[in-house]
Amino acid sequence: MKVLATLVLSLPLVFAAQAPVFVPPGPGPTEQSDNYVGKSNGSLPVEFPVPGRVFNRFIQIWLENTNFAVANSSAVFQTLAQQGITMTNYFALTHPSEPNYVAAVGGDFFGMADDNLYMIPSNISTIVDLLEERRISWASYQESMPTDGFTGFSFASENYLNTSAAPLTLYWRKHNPLIIYNSVADIPSRAARHRNFNDFAVDINHHALPQWMFVTPNIENDAHDTNVDFAGQFLQYWLFPLLKDVRFNGPDTLILLTFDENGSSSINNNIFSLLLGNAVPKELRGTTDSTYFTHYSSLSTVQNNWGLGSLGRGDTNKTLANVFSMVAERTGYRNLKVVDIPLTNISGKTPGPLNSNISLQTPFPPPNIHAKGAGGGPVFVARNFNLSHFGLHH
Ligand SMILES: *[C@@H]1O[C@H](CO)[C@@H](O)[C@H](O)[C@H]1NC(C)=O
Ligand SMILES: *[C@@H]1O[C@H](CO)[C@@H](O)[C@H](O)[C@H]1NC(C)=O
Ligand SMILES: *[C@@H]1O[C@H](CO)[C@@H](O)[C@H](O)[C@H]1NC(C)=O
Ligand SMILES: *[C@@H]1O[C@H](CO)[C@@H](O)[C@H](O)[C@H]1NC(C)=O
Ligand SMILES: *[C@@H]1O[C@H](CO)[C@@H](O)[C@H](O)[C@H]1NC(C)=O
Ligand SMILES: *[C@@H]1O[C@H](CO)[C@@H](O)[C@H](O)[C@H]1NC(C)=O
Ligand SMILES: *[C@@H]1O[C@H](CO)[C@@H](O)[C@H](O)[C@H]1NC(C)=O
Ligand SMILES: *[C@@H]1O[C@H](CO)[C@@H](O)[C@H](O)[C@H]1NC(C)=O
Ligand SMILES: *[C@@H]1O[C@H](CO)[C@@H](O)[C@H](O)[C@H]1NC(C)=O
Repeated sequence: MKVLATLVLSLPLVFAAQAPVFVPPGPGPTEQSDNYVGKSNGSLPVEFPVPGRVFNRFIQIWLENTNFAVANSSAVFQTLAQQGITMTNYFALTHPSEPNYVAAVGGDFFGMADDNLYMIPSNISTIVDLLEERRISWASYQESMPTDGFTGFSFASENYLNTSAAPLTLYWRKHNPLIIYNSVADIPSRAARHRNFNDFAVDINHHALPQWMFVTPNIENDAHDTNVDFAGQFLQYWLFPLLKDVRFNGPDTLILLTFDENGSSSINNNIFSLLLGNAVPKELRGTTDSTYFTHYSSLSTVQNNWGLGSLGRGDTNKTLANVFSMVAERTGYRNLKVVDIPLTNISGKTPGPLNSNISLQTPFPPPNIHAKGAGGGPVFVARNFNLSHFGLHH
């Protein structure tokens, strides 16, 4: 009787919602999928590549909310680590997600401390301004985004993981950083460079993948609503074949596989970040690098590689924006040896225009027009940013 009672009591557990099991979203990364809304309407133009000092293509792939040790103990990440450089002192900048994404393309998170709907004014610049000055092609590839240039907050699609369940919100604007900047979203040619994974399939088949790419898997595949093992299965589906495809991983391609933030704010914000791709010298594959890097390092490294200008923000902060060592060593750029690693597990304490606490709100600060970035070029100031408000001049 006792045994039976226990059995009956535990029955509801059998029917409790199960953790999602990875399902390939399509036949493969180079084919369009019926599970993605929005079939492609054609490829990006094929553009003549602008040579860089160390790499000719930079691809960053962002996953979610995972501690360094968790990713480091996953078999898939260990396999990938054998092919690249694991950066053991790579830190996110704050919590939660959205400010980290925003900072990685604009050099600041402007005090933001939540995942709300933001539209950053059109006089605030991003990496796109620096790339376009040099005609370096770029795109943001967003899995499960419905249409090119989509500016909505989120989007629900049929749940391909469980077709008897309700539609699932798989796309989130908070993980698509450039569209949050009006300097990108309000210019149709720039908005159109936000493309979905069906477009990715068409672009790669046309040899049209651009030179700078930001890649966001959907909210299940990036570990946000799942875990690192699920993300690992996604990487086996998507990244593993692409690493062997020269149309993606060309002879001079550098790939950054990273996470937006660490899983909890109680300890500093160390994340697992890996450099992959054919631009990684053979002798450095399977090694680690303990230099201090942050999400600003992806900006400074790109600037250093192509001799670009800078944004005069966190991208030019010597402490926070060391250039990836394999690049700095080749270009002769001197990184800073950071001994006291800043605490970046804070949230909501940084003053700025997007801080929701009224007593911490400030105007959008001007770029530091005297800053010297890793690319050596001038600080980019948007034409509609009135420096005179701050007693400064163009
Ligand atoms: C990461 O995992 C490897 C084993 O795959 C281990 O040797 C190494 O010490 C770990 N790194 C850190 C920083 O914990
Ligand atoms: C392609 O064009 C059709 C028709 O305008 C549209 O419904 C679809 O969303 C477009 N695809 C993408 C990826 O934007
Ligand atoms: C699929 O969704 C249905 C409806 O929500 C649910 O009853 C079922 O448990 C789900 N299956 C799995 C494997 O999660
Ligand atoms: C955050 O990162 C630190 C440093 O790697 C790690 O010790 C800590 O475990 C991580 N967070 C959590 C919740 O464990
Ligand atoms: C940030 O991390 C430090 C060092 O691990 C810890 O002492 C501190 O309490 C953390 N801060 C917050 C806000 O959790
Ligand atoms: C650079 O970042 C460090 C660490 O957050 C900070 O202490 C310093 O004030 C920043 N420097 C400038 C010029 O903003
Ligand atoms: C707003 O910021 C002020 C100044 O740092 C602080 O004293 C106050 O507790 C904050 N309010 C909230 C709601 O976080
Ligand atoms: C930037 O643009 C916003 C929105 O148009 C405007 O309110 C603000 O005054 C501008 N700032 C400067 C410094 O030009
Ligand atoms: C720029 O700001 C200055 C000082 O606030 C003001 O006098 C000037 O009219 C502004 N220029 C424009 C184009 O808005």
